[in-house]
Amino acid sequence: MRIGVAGVGRIGTMHATNLAALDQVDEVLLFDPVPGRAAVASAALPGTKAVDDLDALLTASDGVLLATPTTTHPALLRAALAAKVPALCEKPIASDLDEMRALVDDVEASGVEVLVGFQRRFDPAVFELHRRVRAGEVGDVYLVRAIGNDAQPPDFGYLPASGGIFRDLLIHDLDAIPWLVGEPVVEVYASGSVLVHQAFADADDVDNAVVMLKFAGGAHATLAGGRHDPLGYDHRIEVLGSKDSLAVGVDARTPLTSLEPGGPVVADDAYPGFPERFHRAYVNEMTVFTQVVAGEVANPSPARESLISLRLAEACEASRRSGAPIRLTGVNA
Ligand SMILES: NC(=O)c1ccc[n+]([C@@H]2O[C@H](COP(=O)([O-])OP(=O)(O)OC[C@H]3O[C@@H](n4cnc5c(N)ncnc54)[C@H](O)[C@@H]3O)[C@@H](O)[C@H]2O)c1
Repeated sequence: MRIGVAGVGRIGTMHATNLAALDQVDEVLLFDPVPGRAAVASAALPGTKAVDDLDALLTASDGVLLATPTTTHPALLRAALAAKVPALCEKPIASDLDEMRALVDDVEASGVEVLVGFQRRFDPAVFELHRRVRAGEVGDVYLVRAIGNDAQPPDFGYLPASGGIFRDLLIHDLDAIPWLVGEPVVEVYASGSVLVHQAFADADDVDNAVVMLKFAGGAHATLAGGRHDPLGYDHRIEVLGSKDSLAVGVDARTPLTSLEPGGPVVADDAYPGFPERFHRAYVNEMTVFTQVVAGEVANPSPARESLISLRLAEACEASRRSGAPIRLTGVNA
């Protein structure tokens, strides 16, 4: 099959590389409006070919991956729907809730498969955690704890358009944790501070945040996220239940030093960033995308479910600003 990639920037180049390595992909087509960018990327990547415009990309592709700036996602996704080409769109598929709701309605009316690039859903360890929780192997879930720290802050010029720490960074766990627990969220409380750099305050944002989610059945989740970790990129999830206690993201590369005798110490090759930490997830995401395109598996990350994380991110932002918890009437898509 042939897969098109629109947007050959940071994440698009990584996805194109992973797609080109798959046996079931005959060719990866690249399009980027910056003159020469797709041709340069294609010259460096065997199995790819640059095309001149979006129409050429959609006409020649069995599936299209949208790895462009978030503001361009709704228009590009609608072009894919009109061309009847299944798509994997990077998260978020739209930057505000009303726009996303309208887009999700259009996706469903079209009958075209659209996957959202929340890579935790494709991570083998997180997927196994999900399977065990949903199979009852953990028993009743008492508590979920997630931590997600960038190693270094993003370019400060990126901050004003980022949407803030909840829409930009914590959104991944705001997607993954309700998906894991499988119950509506009934209450949200969030708090944040500027501890890393004044640039976050100047952008009306925070650089460290904590979120509490309460689920309909009474279980809680705490999510913590920050923009600087001197030891590396750290993402972990722990689930404590009545039968078992499980963790993902705890391995020889976790940027953490234990003070216990014989405990782990930070490794020289601690994860430097999200591409390394989630390498297996990104490779698997491309495999699953091709399987959805071929009609072999169900879509594990549908557009409608991505409404949940944006709704929660907006509630987190409102809670941080007001200092009060927010009760929700059960957040599901
Ligand atoms: N899932 C993840 O882990 C993850 C990580 C990083 C970024 N993202 C998401 O991926 C998207 C892209 O982020 P990035 O960091 O790669 O951005 P980037 O700026 O590095 O790359 C975007 C590319 O898209 C191109 N582009 C712009 N408009 C286009 C259009 N209309 N058609 C085709 N190409 C177009 C740009 O020229 C650029 O080359 C964002 O939505 C971001 O939120 C997801």
